[in-house]
Amino acid sequence: MSEPTPIAVIVGSLRQASFNRLAAQALIDLSPASLNMAMVEIGNLPLYNQDFDDDSPASYQLFRAQLRAAGGYVFVTPEHNRSMPAALKNALDIGSRPARENAWAGKPGAVISGSPSLMGGFGASHHLRQVLVNLDVACMPQPETYLSRVQELFDEHGQPTERCRDYLQRFLNGYAQWVKRISP
Ligand code: FNR
Repeated sequence: MSEPTPIAVIVGSLRQASFNRLAAQALIDLSPASLNMAMVEIGNLPLYNQDFDDDSPASYQLFRAQLRAAGGYVFVTPEHNRSMPAALKNALDIGSRPARENAWAGKPGAVISGSPSLMGGFGASHHLRQVLVNLDVACMPQPETYLSRVQELFDEHGQPTERCRDYLQRFLNGYAQWVKRISP
């Protein structure tokens, strides 16, 4: 059997009790043998400034190295004002620079959004997908995964309900296939 593909899981929420972080952890717990999924943190990255392109903070350098080491990316994000949270956009920008050194490029990606609303963070998911096109991340088209009423998808111990596990399993099955298609 070939080595599992390392996948960086990036959570758009910095909130300690984040439901999206619970979903990301559940994905890691359910991940198939072909994927080695681990979280890459974005909360310690200073706000991107183009002046840093010549002299990057150590946290930027580590983050870019983590992206380069990954064979794909899974984004699990809430919606802030119908878009992705600023922390996530900041991380996307940092990984994309300096010019011609885009660390995201050419890898298979996928998006899950989660929200207490019925729309499940649809706006955030599609803004993120739009940016991923520019970053040359091959974003899995299907299955689209929106975790509506996300607060009902975890029990009091933070474990996913059976319904949540089913959604996440369907997503993981699709993503494992997608990784093989994009990086055979
Ligand atoms: C929100 N929230 C929100 N929800 C939504 O469905 N659409 C939206 O546009 C917004 N906008 C928004 C803006 C800001 C600044 C905050 C702080 C929150 C609510 C959001 O979905 C909710 O707080 C989630 O629980 C956040 O996800 P985590 O932190 O639980 O993963």
